[in-house]
Amino acid sequence: MKNILVTGGLGYIGSHTVVELIAHNYNPIIIDDLSNTNIEVLERLKKITGKEITYYKNDVCDTATLTHILNTHHIEGVIHFAAFKAVGESVQFPLKYYHNNIGGLVSLISAMEACQIKNIVFSSSCTVYGEPDFSPVGELSPIKKASSPYGNTKQIGEEILNECAFLNAVALRYFNPIGAHESALIGELPLGVPNNLVPFITQTAAGIREKITVYGNDYNTKDGTCVRDYIHVVDLAKAHVKAIDFINQNPNNHFDVFNIGTGNGFTVLEIIETFEKVNQIKLNYTIGARRVGDVEKVWANNDKASNVLGWQAELNLEKMVESAWRWQQHLH
Ligand code: UD1
Repeated sequence: MKNILVTGGLGYIGSHTVVELIAHNYNPIIIDDLSNTNIEVLERLKKITGKEITYYKNDVCDTATLTHILNTHHIEGVIHFAAFKAVGESVQFPLKYYHNNIGGLVSLISAMEACQIKNIVFSSSCTVYGEPDFSPVGELSPIKKASSPYGNTKQIGEEILNECAFLNAVALRYFNPIGAHESALIGELPLGVPNNLVPFITQTAAGIREKITVYGNDYNTKDGTCVRDYIHVVDLAKAHVKAIDFINQNPNNHFDVFNIGTGNGFTVLEIIETFEKVNQIKLNYTIGARRVGDVEKVWANNDKASNVLGWQAELNLEKMVESAWRWQQHLH
């Protein structure tokens, strides 16, 4: 069984990927510093998979410990999730983002180089396209100037991987992951007030938040609210397994990027309406001002992931909002 180091493996996307790796006969070794998650996730992963899982509480910036872990286990490849992701916070505290997201990546690649490990899958984002001239965006669409330090860390991260010639790297550009595992044992659990739309919706439905503010309804879209490509986190997790398979099958590849989205765009109001319809819950919402830095519309051309990785999204929006709500209810 191949050992895969998963940094940030107890986080939202990381934990779902650990489940899929085990389902596909990989052995994930998790490191996570618990800066934005809870150790309880580890027990839940064991419950879902019925497997013991090796875990280290470790910061990716600690190169010496990383090197030790890579040497201890015969690691075939790394999936690197460990990073901060709040766009607004990154504007306020840019150095926190450069330290963790860039410093962490450099630390990890240094440890990999020392241990002669070259296979890596990197969490990138559709944020690298900025406000695209048109959608769907393909991987060859222009990279626009990042609108936040967070976005910049994803652009620079891709460049660093490309410049490290010894690597066999894949960057997955995620669109908007939502939803939760069908067991409702793992899901997205933001600490504090959520920044992202769907956790805000589920917490409002649960009575934790009074109402949702829709950030602007004067955009040039069908109902005036922003359009995004929402993707089920389980589909996204499966894309990582496909990326690891692809790297293993193409040992002489150096660097590739793939869009991971469904190819469908939905407005904020469509998400709210679908949530209400599927879960039979009325949501309290108001229309507010635009959020600074928001992109008007973006959705993916995912032909490359389909043709090269053999990956396709399988779960629809109804499943996404249904599983998100079941996860939220399971928390209480
Ligand atoms: C952004 C980035 C994404 C990044 C993510 C990390 C883009 C296009 N996407 O996602 O790459 O990984 O941040 O957090 O840059 N909304 C409301 N009310 C709310 C919350 C959100 O109306 O309370 C709206 C937003 O205006 C947006 C949509 O919901 O139109 C989705 O927002 P969110 O979930 O925060 O994700 P993005 O900003 O798209």
